[in-house]
Amino acid sequence: MKQINSNITTTDDNFNSRIASYNELMEVYNSRINSVLRREKDLAVIKHISRGKLDPRTRIELLIDKDTPFLELSTLAAYDQYDNQFPSAGIVTGIGKIHGKLCMIIANDATVKGGTYISETVKKHLRGQEIALQNHLPCVYLVDSGGIFLPEQANIFPDRDGFGRIFYNQSLMSAAAIPQIAIVMGSCTAGGAYVPAMSDETIIVKNQGTIFIGGPPLVKAATGEEVTAEELGGAFVHTGISGVADHLAENEIDAIRICRNIFELIPQHENQYFESYPIEEPAYNPMELYGLAPIDLRKQVDIYELIARIVDGSKFEEFKRDYGTTLITGYSRILGLPVGIIANNGFLTSEASLKGAHFIEICNFRKIPLLFLQNISGFIVGKKYEHEGIARNGAKLIHAVATAVVPKITVIIGGSYGAGNYAMAGRAYNPDFLFMWPNSKIGVMGGQQAQGVLNSIKGEGKNQSTDLIQKFEEESSAYFSTSRIWDDGIIDPINTRAIVGLAISIASNKKTEPPRNGIYRM
Ligand code: COA
Repeated sequence: MKQINSNITTTDDNFNSRIASYNELMEVYNSRINSVLRREKDLAVIKHISRGKLDPRTRIELLIDKDTPFLELSTLAAYDQYDNQFPSAGIVTGIGKIHGKLCMIIANDATVKGGTYISETVKKHLRGQEIALQNHLPCVYLVDSGGIFLPEQANIFPDRDGFGRIFYNQSLMSAAAIPQIAIVMGSCTAGGAYVPAMSDETIIVKNQGTIFIGGPPLVKAATGEEVTAEELGGAFVHTGISGVADHLAENEIDAIRICRNIFELIPQHENQYFESYPIEEPAYNPMELYGLAPIDLRKQVDIYELIARIVDGSKFEEFKRDYGTTLITGYSRILGLPVGIIANNGFLTSEASLKGAHFIEICNFRKIPLLFLQNISGFIVGKKYEHEGIARNGAKLIHAVATAVVPKITVIIGGSYGAGNYAMAGRAYNPDFLFMWPNSKIGVMGGQQAQGVLNSIKGEGKNQSTDLIQKFEEESSAYFSTSRIWDDGIIDPINTRAIVGLAISIASNKKTEPPRNGIYRM
């Protein structure tokens, strides 16, 4: 494969001032991440620890194989909503290895309003199950939750993708032979009781875990019966009398040990075969991505320079280099795994769309996972382009993206606007994973453009408020997106290579069906 030759002078002032600007963005990013990860002084955390309980991230660290990575998803869910009272939306989800087997871990955080669920908590939980189902990952639930956060019940309880969907998914996952193990480390109330009740095997911690459809106050109100939580649904009740749980654990560490033992005996799932090669570091330093990432979206960045700092050996074998040049397509490797890259280098044109669709067809046949690097302001507009059928040609790319049978990983590195978001495997196109860089923006269009459109509809001067521009600005930030779980998390550009590599190896658990049609040239 050919190596990309970088044309950047990394010593010049301009490059260094871009790095300085990106460092400022990273300071904001790190302080927001720390605000949810470092909560030792929070009273709820102090109370939790004083009860001899572990925080969810420590539980996960002890559960997964020593010194192996954990790909945490949507760490900043619910950020800047609900007065920031729900760090990470009160739930930690992500993928790690237990006894060498990749698995999805979904862990309630009881230090966040008793581990109760708001709509973002439900969305994160369902997304975790969706990834597990798509990629045939066994699932571990670390349960410590008071169920629905009652003031928000209308947004959580009744709809299709509400709280009830969690248990519906558990049934489907079980029917798809996906092992599910629950460890009850705290409260498991009302509907939440079905998480352990519907898992294959359930472990419950002595004097700590409880499972009941209605807690003691509800029982008293409903029937007048007075009963303690332990008598109603404690560990001894469920392992000795009701049979709802299967294993009695002395403490959390013991529970984690039992879970790991169960995993030792779970058969290894047969992976999709991707040819893998020795890993090569990029020839150019990934730290330089800070100086290259598009902060000012009006200025086009040279996407080859970014690819050179993400892929193995900076090697990239380009497909159709001289045709439809605003979309770059080509073959490469990340952490030794094959990848077909589709990256923006300008507007999407008819030629670029046809090229992208053709390339996706080839990757489908050769079983090459796709990596979309999004920095797109949209499809090109104007009479000339409409006449040549941009809508018809764009539709081919959108169709190819939607029906691709190989894993799709999307990273939004700059702008993600309009139908460009769709054609480049935005969330609605079911990419296996979608991550954003801290500088990235997402929206139907930029604020200035939206203002311009409204002005031309309503008449110049009638709608000159800056509110709309401001609103678009706020709503298109990566933080606004990740707070609402439109993505799987904001990542440090330097980690892109490691995260995409991990994402491809996770997606290799998925069985891909062969395409239904041959390759036809566009
Ligand atoms: N809805 C709304 N808020 C809830 C809640 C619920 N279901 N469960 C707990 N909270 C809130 C508490 O009001 C408290 O809020 P605050 O920090 O603003 O004071 C916070 O979560 C922590 O609750 P607390 O009871 O102090 O913590 P705890 O660790 O001692 O107990 C629970 C946690 C979950 C065992 C306990 O709060 C409980 O039993 N909650 C009710 C569970 C229930 O009946 N759920 C049914 C709904 S499906």
